[in-house]
Parts: sequence; structure tokens; C-alpha cells
Amino acid sequence: MADILTLTPNPALDVFTSTARVQPTHKLRCGAPLLHPGGGGINVARVLARLGTGVRALFPSGGVAGQQLCGLLEAEGVAYETLPIAGSTRESFSVREEASGQEYRFVLPGPTLSDAEWQASLDFACLHRPGARLFVASGSLPPGVPDDFYARLARRLAAAGVRLVLDTSGPPLAAALDAGVHLVKPSLRELQELTAQPLATMAQREAACRSLVERGSAGIVALSLGAEGALLVSAQGAWHAPALPVQVVSTIGAGDSFVGGMVFAFARGEDFAAALRHGMAASAAALLSGGTALCQPEDVARLLPQVQVRSLG
Ligand SMILES: Nc1ncnc2c1ncn2[C@@H]1O[C@H](COP(=O)(O)OP(=O)(O)OP(=O)(O)O)[C@@H](O)[C@H]1O
Ligand SMILES: [Mg+2]
Repeated sequence: MADILTLTPNPALDVFTSTARVQPTHKLRCGAPLLHPGGGGINVARVLARLGTGVRALFPSGGVAGQQLCGLLEAEGVAYETLPIAGSTRESFSVREEASGQEYRFVLPGPTLSDAEWQASLDFACLHRPGARLFVASGSLPPGVPDDFYARLARRLAAAGVRLVLDTSGPPLAAALDAGVHLVKPSLRELQELTAQPLATMAQREAACRSLVERGSAGIVALSLGAEGALLVSAQGAWHAPALPVQVVSTIGAGDSFVGGMVFAFARGEDFAAALRHGMAASAAALLSGGTALCQPEDVARLLPQVQVRSLG
């Protein structure tokens, strides 16, 4: 039995390359592509596997891209189980523009899942039992899947005593929070959209997280704030960590590495401050690697002692 399970309803074969300058009309000659397995839960599984946690990635898979994605996971030594679907797994295309250092990310909607397929995905996810009783669901929902998919998952896992860690956005996030989850990891943009508030100050952000905890939407809210670090809020307290001053090569996968670091620590039975510290170190480490490569464990270990966590009482 894997310690942790992750579910990725809309996985992607990530294709990353670079070009001199992004401009219209002309052919943009690109460098050799780097291929990685992608999608929120798959990325979290890649991080957990690197950090040494027993993890299994669950996802629907179809077509040639789906097969390629599975091959890449095998090559990385990440355990997985797929639910076959009729459509083709999507590709996500990221391009680094050499002239500016900016990254352009092209994200396709993914295959349409039939009613039978998304219902089977839910059953498939709920069939498995994680050893650490932590289940990570992450990423967007593909076309055809109802907005309450994660809410349904939350209710079924809660009934089975499994704690759901959720990282998603928009209506699927709002619906799941109505059902209640163990831990939610919104970015500032996602929390602003959810609350329809600008959340300009740290005090307002902390209050918004507290109100999610108080109304039972989430036991723990981990709010990631990009270059401003992150907040962790639970009924037991609140903590802030400023971002580490690292040289940013790419921000792709920072959020997924943040979730991976936190889940790694929680699965080991560490406390809130330690979980935040691991999330910060893993996300900062992800910034050091280009494209969709995610964090390297040596970087996480080196950065961990540099994270400053402050209790907000
Ligand atoms: N520019 C940055 N400088 C330093 N740290 C950063 C930077 N961007 C991201 N991080 C680190 O990565 C974590 C996650 O990043 P972020 O808040 O952007 O989440 P995200 O999920 O990637 O965002 P989104 O889903 O909106 O793309 C942050 O909490 C922080 O620790
Ligand atoms: Mg994110």
C-alpha cells in the first residue's frame, strides 16, 4: 500500500522547449524538446517519490500521449495506475523565450470524459486506500466532468476516513470547499477569485484563510503567495514564511512542489511549522530547475535550514 495517493483528473504530457523570440507569422525555430509527465497530482507524486515517500499516481489515460506519459513516469520511478479512457491525454506546451527569459505556457483543455468515464474515475480513486490516509487531488477538470467532481471525492474520502489535500481553482474549488477538505492550497489569485476580495494586506489574507477554517471548508489552508512566500492557517494557529531569495529560473511547478513538500512532512507526522518549511524549501528548489523539471532533493535539503517560519499566534 502506497503511503500517499494522488489523483490527476486531467494529466498532461508536458513538452518544454525554447526559442529566440516569440513573434507572430514567422516560424519559431525551437530547441530540442524536453518531455515530462505533468498535471497537478502527477507532479506532486514526482516530488514525493524524489523525497522518498511511497506514492502512487492515479489518473485517466488515453492515446499515444497517455502511453508516453506512463513511460516517463516509469523512467522517473514513480508508481502509477491508470484508468483507460476513449479520448487522448493532452499535451501542454511551454516555451522559454531566450531574449526575455519569459515563459509562455500553452494549456489545452484535455479530452472530454463521458459520464461513465468520470464516474469510473471517481470509483477508481475511491477504491484505493493510502497508508498515511492522505490523498492528494490536484489540477483542472477535463471537459465533461462536473464542477462538483472534487466535492464528491471529498465526501467519499471523508466517509472512508481518508484526508483530502486539494489544489485546484474556480468552481471545482468552491464546490469542494462547500463539502469540506482536510487541506486546501490556493494561490493568492485563486483565493481572491474564491472570496471576490482583493486581499491586499497580509492581515486580510490571514483572515480569509481563518474564515475558511472556521466555516469548516478546510482543516488547514496553505495559501501560496508567490514571491511573498506562504501562509499556513489551521484551528491550532497560523504561520507565515517569506519566500527564499533564490535565482528564479522557472516558476513552473512551484505550486505543485510546495504541495509535495508539505505532504511529505505531514505524512512523516511533522507539525505545521515543519510542513510549511518543507513546502517552502521544495517550491524554492523548483524555481532553480528549468521548465517542468520540478525540484531536486539535494536543493530541498540545502534550502530547508534557510526557511524562516514565524508564528502569527
Ligand atoms: N518569484 C518567486 N520568488 C520566490 N519564491 C517563489 C516565487 N514564485 C513562487 N515561489 C514559491 O513557490 C510557492 C508557490 O508559488 P505560487 O504562489 O506562485 O503558487 P502556484 O500554485 O504556482 O500559483 P498558480 O497556481 O497561480 O500558478 C510560493 O509559496 C513560494 O514559496
Ligand atoms: Mg497552483
